[in-house]
Amino acid sequence: MAQLPEVCPVGGLIGAEIRGLDLTREYPDETYQAVRQAWAEHGVIFFHDQYLTAEQRESFARRFGEIRTMQQVRKEPGQTRNVGESWHVDMTCFDEPPIGTILFAEEVPLYGGDTLWAGMGPAFEALSEGLRRTLAGMYAVHANVRNLGPSYAQTSPPEPSIAEYDAADGPLHPVVRVLPETGRRVLYVNPEYTMRFEGWTRRESLPLLRYLFEHATKPEFVTRFGWRPGSIAFWDNRQVWHLAVNDYHGMRRVMNRILLTGTKPIPAGRFPAPFLP
Ligand code: SIN
Repeated sequence: MAQLPEVCPVGGLIGAEIRGLDLTREYPDETYQAVRQAWAEHGVIFFHDQYLTAEQRESFARRFGEIRTMQQVRKEPGQTRNVGESWHVDMTCFDEPPIGTILFAEEVPLYGGDTLWAGMGPAFEALSEGLRRTLAGMYAVHANVRNLGPSYAQTSPPEPSIAEYDAADGPLHPVVRVLPETGRRVLYVNPEYTMRFEGWTRRESLPLLRYLFEHATKPEFVTRFGWRPGSIAFWDNRQVWHLAVNDYHGMRRVMNRILLTGTKPIPAGRFPAPFLP
């Protein structure tokens, strides 16, 4: 019989720790299917004490899809910025944003440097029925208006003007997407890449976007993970936001990140009625 992992929720609404696996080993497909199911149900899953080589990291990632990019995310003792220090979803400025991200801790500060995730399934379900229905029929423009790139950790990108937000060009994504594995509807806007609602200006969009951004990070939707060398976080980039806490100046933090190729988001408005929350 295939070895099945122990799935231990770490919060009421989001996140689970996976225990009982040694990821330097290969397991039968059923084991990875159980891991995938926990990932889809809990939004983000965590492992500890997994000391993988670069090849083992890659082969673990390939169990869950095609690799889109592999990068090292590091902050040196002399740097004051870190990658991902404000709430975001990875690369929703792409037509087909990554389905998931796996972050492997190589070197972590003595203290600090945690990461937070916020669950957009629970956030959506906590809205009023009227707002859920309205949002489910809407689309928004996503773009990389701040041009985040590899130099992000060294420099502070200036805040773009309203005109730049209005002119920004990028894919239209549904404001509520459906996850095919569970039928769950999740809020799909984020502060980094969502510019404006389709057919609305940035100024018109801001009051509703600001409301949603504030709502989405209520403490009950958020989980926090403290890293150790050998820890792994694997998140469902379709249904969580994340933020790397930048509270460890003077110390080094080195993580290896793998982004998995995704597909176009499925709009909630077109999904069969039985899945309406
Ligand atoms: C990221 O935004 O992908 C980085 C997250 C982290 O370093 O904790």
